[in-house]
Amino acid sequence: MKENPVFKNMMKCKTPDELIDEGSHSELKKTLNVFDLIVIGIGAVVGTGIFSIVGVAAAGGTDSVGAGPALVISMIIAAVACVFSALCYSEFASMIPVAGSAYTYTYATMGEFMAWMVGFILMLEYAIGNITVACAWTGYLFQLLKGFPFLPEWLINPPIWLVNDFRSAAALCDKEGWNMHDMVPYIFDKIPFCINLPAILIVLLLTILLVRGAKDSAKFASIMVGVNIFIITSFIIVGAFFVKPENWTPFAPNGFEGVFMGAFLIFFAYIGFDAISTTAEETKNPQKNLPIAILATLTICTILYVLVALVLTGIVPIDKIDILAPIAAAMKFVGQDKFAGLISLAAVAGLTSVLLVYQLGTTRILYAMSRDNFLPSCLQNLHPKFKTPVALTWISGIIVILGSLFMDLNISAELCNFGTFTSFIIVCAAVLILRKTEPDRPRPFKVPFCPWFPILGIVICGGLMLYSMKFLTVSRVLFPLWLLCGVLIYAGYCYKNKREKDAV
Ligand code: ALA
Repeated sequence: MKENPVFKNMMKCKTPDELIDEGSHSELKKTLNVFDLIVIGIGAVVGTGIFSIVGVAAAGGTDSVGAGPALVISMIIAAVACVFSALCYSEFASMIPVAGSAYTYTYATMGEFMAWMVGFILMLEYAIGNITVACAWTGYLFQLLKGFPFLPEWLINPPIWLVNDFRSAAALCDKEGWNMHDMVPYIFDKIPFCINLPAILIVLLLTILLVRGAKDSAKFASIMVGVNIFIITSFIIVGAFFVKPENWTPFAPNGFEGVFMGAFLIFFAYIGFDAISTTAEETKNPQKNLPIAILATLTICTILYVLVALVLTGIVPIDKIDILAPIAAAMKFVGQDKFAGLISLAAVAGLTSVLLVYQLGTTRILYAMSRDNFLPSCLQNLHPKFKTPVALTWISGIIVILGSLFMDLNISAELCNFGTFTSFIIVCAAVLILRKTEPDRPRPFKVPFCPWFPILGIVICGGLMLYSMKFLTVSRVLFPLWLLCGVLIYAGYCYKNKREKDAV
C-alpha cells in the first residue's frame, strides 16, 4: 500500500547526527561550566513551590486536602517522579547536546509532528509557568517592603489595580468585602483596568539582561541563588531548634489522598532542572557537564526540600500553617519576626532567578524550533554583539507580560504541571525508542536499569497527572484546549511553512 505523504512528513525524524551537526554550527557562545549549570538549575527550581505552594500541599486548599506532616513523603514521591525523568534527560543531553531540550529529543525519536507538539507543550511549562512566578513575585515584593515601615505608604500599600491582574483584584475585593468600583478604575465606565505593574517591570528588566547573554544572566542568577540557599539553610538550622515532635502526629491526617495531592502540587517546586538541558549549545564539554549538573541540582533541591518539610511541619501545627507565605509565617509563629523578613528577601531572590532561567529556557526552545522552520526564519537572528536570539528573547518576555495581565496564578501553575508531566513522560518514552532504534550509538551517560527506570518515570508521572485530574476543574479543560491549539497551528501554518523553507 502507498504511504500517505502527509503522514510520512509528520513522522519524519531528524537523526541524532543531523541534530548534533546543526548544534555544532551554532553561533551561541560556549561560556557555561558545570558550576554555572548547577546555579542555573537551582535558580530554576527553588522558587514559588517551596516558598508558597508548600503551604497548600501540607495544609490543603480549596481544591485539595493537605498531606499534613506526611508532606515529607509527598516531597519524596515528587522527587522520585523527577529522578527517572532526570536520568532520561541526562542520557539525551549527553548524547545530543543541542538547545531545545525535550523538543529536540522528540524530533530524534517520534518525528516532526510530535516534536512540534512537545515544543508547544513546553511553552506551558516555561512561558505559562513564568506567569505564575511573575505574579507570585509581586506578592513577595510587597511582603518584603512591608518590613520597612519608613517607606512611603504608597509604596507599601499601592492601589490594588496597580499590582494585580483583574481576576486576582476581583478575588481580593470579594474576600475583603470591598466594592470593585471603589477600588479599580473603569475605562468608559465599563471595562475595569488592572495591571500587575511590578511583574511587568521585573520581566522587562530580566529580558534586557537576557539579551546581553547567558553568561551575564548566570552571574546574576548566582547572586540570587546564593542569597536564596543561604536563607533557606538558615531556616532549616534555626527552625530545627523550635521543632516539637508532637506536631508530627497524626502523620497523615488525610491518608493517601492528602499525600498524593501533596505530591502533585509540590511537583511544581521541582520543575526546572530540565531547563539546564536547554543551554546545551552554550555549555563547555556538554556530554560530561550536563548530566552532572542535572543530577546534582535534583539531589541538592531534594535534600533542601525534605528538610524544609520536616522543619515546617515540626514547628507549626498543621491547622496553623499559613497558605500564602508558609515559611516566613512559620518564623513569625516562633517569634522570629526579623528572620521572617529575611525569608521574604530569599523568596524575592528565588523567584527572580526562576523567572530569569525560565525566560532563558523559553527563548532557547523557540530558537531550536525556528531553526527547524516551524516558525518564521527572521526569529533566528542573533544580536550582533551579544550573539543572543534577540527577537525571541523579547517575544518570550512579551508573552509573559501579556499573560500576567489576564491569567490566574493557580491555573497557570496547574497548567505548568500538566505540561511538565507530559514532557517528562515523552522524554522517558523517547529514551526507550532510541535504545531500540540506535542501540549502538555512543551514550556518554546511560540511564541505569533500562527499560525499568524510564517505564517507572512514565507510570509515576502519568499516575500523578491522572489522579490530580479528578480534583482540578478549570485546568483539566484548558490543557486539552492548549493541545488542540497546537494541532491547529501545525496544520494551518507550520506544516506548510516547513515544507517551503526546507525545500530552499
Ligand atoms: N520550581 C519552580 C518554582 O517553584 C518552578 O518556582
